[in-house]
Amino acid sequence: MAPHMKLSVPGRATATAVVAAVSLLVGGSMAGAAPAGPALAAAPDIPVANVKAHLTQLQSIATANGGNRAHGRPGYRASLDYMKGKLDAAGFTTRIQQFTASGRVGYNLIADWPGGDTGQVVMAGSHLDSVSSGPGINDNGSGSAAVLETALAVSRANLQPTKHLRFAWWGAEELGLVGSRHYVNSLATGDRSRISGYLNFDMIGSPNPGYFVYDDDPAIEKTFQAYFTGLGVPTEIETEGDGRSDHAPFKSAGVPVGGLFTGASRAKTAAQVTKWGGTAGLAFDRCYHSSCDTTTNINDTALDRNSDAIAYAVWELSE
Ligand code: TRP
Ligand code: CA
Ligand code: ZN
Repeated sequence: MAPHMKLSVPGRATATAVVAAVSLLVGGSMAGAAPAGPALAAAPDIPVANVKAHLTQLQSIATANGGNRAHGRPGYRASLDYMKGKLDAAGFTTRIQQFTASGRVGYNLIADWPGGDTGQVVMAGSHLDSVSSGPGINDNGSGSAAVLETALAVSRANLQPTKHLRFAWWGAEELGLVGSRHYVNSLATGDRSRISGYLNFDMIGSPNPGYFVYDDDPAIEKTFQAYFTGLGVPTEIETEGDGRSDHAPFKSAGVPVGGLFTGASRAKTAAQVTKWGGTAGLAFDRCYHSSCDTTTNINDTALDRNSDAIAYAVWELSE
């Protein structure tokens, strides 16, 4: 056991076990090798196979519900119920927030990880709705699945950060950021200012990927850049659609924001191909908002790197 790990002593532990645990703790602290600062465990490597398994489920949900997971359609609610089931089983406190958009009921899913300072909330979120023309696996099953798997990794690690962690899946983004705006507007002024940062993930597995970091809050941006620098992967500043996703309502309310993006309908340039590989003159995602945005419309390397970057940022920014 690592010296920094918290020992949980079961209620029915024998006295010997408790004594053994205490002496382990004493032994650990007397070794004197641990740094004086917080000794939170390093962020985990998110298994991309787990993220892909969530995408397979979202694809099945779309297929069983008329080929989409759009706002007001049964595939949206089924997607939300899938996420909620995983989060509830992992120990999150979940809540469904309802709103109305275009005459249909929509839902946000909010999942709080118990513990941490609720005066400093770190949020990570993704929109869970697709357009009606397709299953929305890159846009935005990718962000939704990676944020889910990061939340499940928090639970597996039993992470106990200094700050409070909250994960969110937004409805009706494709109708104009409706769910995330509803959430931000529903917060009391005091609660808004308690959010230290909001991290947004919308399209992070584009098939001809770029590695774009939102140029917004400097501390959040630097955290993501540090992760990609460690991988030796160059990044660029996201310019394809400032304000075109769910971070915008948070930013308007004065919350520090950041995020990642692998590109939509814009074409990859020759210079970008030199950096990242792929195909010049082809869209980052040629299936953007189309029926071909299926599980085959995902670059596994991009999905893996971005999922790991999300976990890295969640761990770093909440400690
Ligand atoms: N939000 C857009 C959508 O869901 C996609 C998009 C376009 C985007 N440009 C972006 C997302 C820039 C994040 C950043 O259709
Ligand atoms: Ca990984
Ligand atoms: Zn999107």
